[in-house]
Amino acid sequence: MALAGKRILIIIGDGIAAYKVLDLIRRLREQGASLHVVMTTAAKQFVTELSVASLAGGKVFGDLFSLMDETEIGHIQLSRDADLLVVAPATADLLAKMAHGLANDLASTLLLATDKKILVAPAMNLRMWLHPATLRNIASLREDGVLFVGPEEGDMACGETGPGRMSEPTAILAAIDRALDSETSIPLPATMRKHQETRPLAGRRVIVTSGPTHEPIDPVRYIANRSSGKQGHALAAAAAEAGAEVVLVSGPVALPDPAGVETKHVETAAEMLAAVEAALPADIFIGVAAVADWRVAGTAADKIKKQKNTPPVLALVENPDILAAIAQHGMSRPRLVVGFAAETEDVLAHAQAKLARKRCDVIVANDVSLQSGVMGSGVMGKDENQVTIITPAGMEALPRLHKYEVATRLVARFTDMLEAMAEDHTNE
Ligand code: CTP
Repeated sequence: MALAGKRILIIIGDGIAAYKVLDLIRRLREQGASLHVVMTTAAKQFVTELSVASLAGGKVFGDLFSLMDETEIGHIQLSRDADLLVVAPATADLLAKMAHGLANDLASTLLLATDKKILVAPAMNLRMWLHPATLRNIASLREDGVLFVGPEEGDMACGETGPGRMSEPTAILAAIDRALDSETSIPLPATMRKHQETRPLAGRRVIVTSGPTHEPIDPVRYIANRSSGKQGHALAAAAAEAGAEVVLVSGPVALPDPAGVETKHVETAAEMLAAVEAALPADIFIGVAAVADWRVAGTAADKIKKQKNTPPVLALVENPDILAAIAQHGMSRPRLVVGFAAETEDVLAHAQAKLARKRCDVIVANDVSLQSGVMGSGVMGKDENQVTIITPAGMEALPRLHKYEVATRLVARFTDMLEAMAEDHTNE
């Protein structure tokens, strides 16, 4: 059951090799993968929907405008819910659509709408495979991060011999394993990539807080907030990749220190504030940490012993608000101060109120209610996040993305904001 828990979306294109996909589906199910299958209209001329549905153990999707399907699972969701999209057979036509961003049926729409890895198993006549147009499309798709398996050389259904045969199901299965293991993902839009390549934050200093804080009750117990630190650490890494000198002030987390980032480890909110202030001045401050709002007044020097029927009463005192303190730091206030607001209800309204109350420039709001699915089993953060960027000028919702991609996009936005501020300053 090597693929247990893996979600794969199979797109069956319209080629004679579609029959081999039945065997692929059977093998994927044997290995425990959970499948959704989409067939192009013409694929149904080669294999029946019924055979595919029986082997896949579920419904087969085919119609872009099916109201029934939309109410069950939206087409964007279908492409985002998967860990991997596999196109088999990938015809010359489907590859051309992918290369040019066309989306005129369900298969091509899903391929354009996805933010997940795509593996294609081409199958076509050898003249089509060797045609300069197909070669151009393949080159662009490879550049876009699309993974290929095959085609193989050999006798083809059309009677010719050469490259163009779809790989055998076992070879596609091995490629699926590799694809799921690899770090490849659909690259960021070109504008975002430019931000990484040109190192636009070179010469800038960025301070990020991440993780929870632990407020001791006694030497063995503490109060804490739920936070994995994944989003904060990803932001520190993304800012460093964009060329910034980054200081990450991290509460206790189970994550490695990001490469190229100066990481300061702290426990309490008071230590976090001191470490941030010591790291000033900076151009950008990003407060991602889930800082405990209170600490225990008079931490016990020794372990508090249980007393029968008399549970201890904890007196709490409010912790400093690090974000508000940095946003109101007089001369050494970073030019761009960014806060996060993890909310479970009225997400945008609460976030807007925080923007004003803490006097920061940006609030990045995310919904951590149980319905949002961001909090995993309710214990630790998942790898994905859906955030909305709120500034006094308006708001922008980003799609649900891997936290690393959220970080890269946020850093790109913050860079733009910093540049706009610098321009305003010179125009004054
Ligand atoms: N924050 C901070 N110091 C604190 C509390 C919060 O720096 N003592 C920062 C967080 O890092 C985050 C933002 O403030 O960037 C919002 O945190 P949140 O816990 O949502 O805000 P609170 O002020 O605690 O508001 P509330 O408890 O009313 O939701």
